[in-house]
Amino acid sequence: MSAETSDSKNPILSVIGNVFLFLVPLSLVVMLGIVGVAFIGGMKDKKVEDAPVAAAVPAAPAPTDGGKVAAASAVGAEVTSAPAPAGGAAAIDPEVIALGKASYAMCAACHGPDGSGIKVGPALMAPSLIGSKILLGDPDLSLLVTLKGIAKENMDYMGMMASLAAGLDDQKMAAVLTYTRNEWGNSAPPVTVEQAAAARAKFAEVNAPAGVKRGEIEAIVNAHK
Ligand code: HEC
Repeated sequence: MSAETSDSKNPILSVIGNVFLFLVPLSLVVMLGIVGVAFIGGMKDKKVEDAPVAAAVPAAPAPTDGGKVAAASAVGAEVTSAPAPAGGAAAIDPEVIALGKASYAMCAACHGPDGSGIKVGPALMAPSLIGSKILLGDPDLSLLVTLKGIAKENMDYMGMMASLAAGLDDQKMAAVLTYTRNEWGNSAPPVTVEQAAAARAKFAEVNAPAGVKRGEIEAIVNAHK
């Protein structure tokens, strides 16, 4: 009743009121829309700037079990007797280093451009390669890991290293290991193309579709000498 009477009394005011009531929410919606689009656009730009590497990295799989595995102790035992580098770095062909450095792009997504492992908040994508006993020991150790990958047994690292056998031919495999064995302060004799080819052939029978277990690396290498 009261609405009817006010309408009939002030028809013009009523129309203006209705238009106003319609325009205010409409303009708010439009403004929110503009802000929203700008925000999403900004986020997209920012993402691209901030995370060029992370974008290429596969997501970490869910933990299969919580069991921590005594890591690398078995491997370390053998590695301490590895041959001394004896100025090996100076003798390495610069072309091999250049090929190794280029091939390392494949590893850098997890192990980082400086070899110390990409940080994801407080965690690491992958262990540091600086001073790694697996990397600097018997070439067969790192060849096995690169050819087969390492099984995901705990959540210490966000990344998961799958087999890289398909992405690296013998020449690149040898070069990338030679490069990493002699970069960032590391020093170890080069890994030869012959060693890489031999490892590919002899480890072909190793059945480890999800990667070799850390604790079994040394035993597998010894069983194929
Ligand atoms: C997708 C991520 C990823 C990529 C790519 C990758 N790795 Fe790894 N790598 C890992 C992770 C994770 C581990 C440790 C696995 C574990 O113990 O759970 C590891 C372990 C290793 C180890 C053993 C290190 C140690 O001492 O524990 C070596 C050596 C290694 N990687 C070399 C390489 C090389 C060489 C490449 C490139 C040809 C490469 N990785 C590419 C994730 C990666």
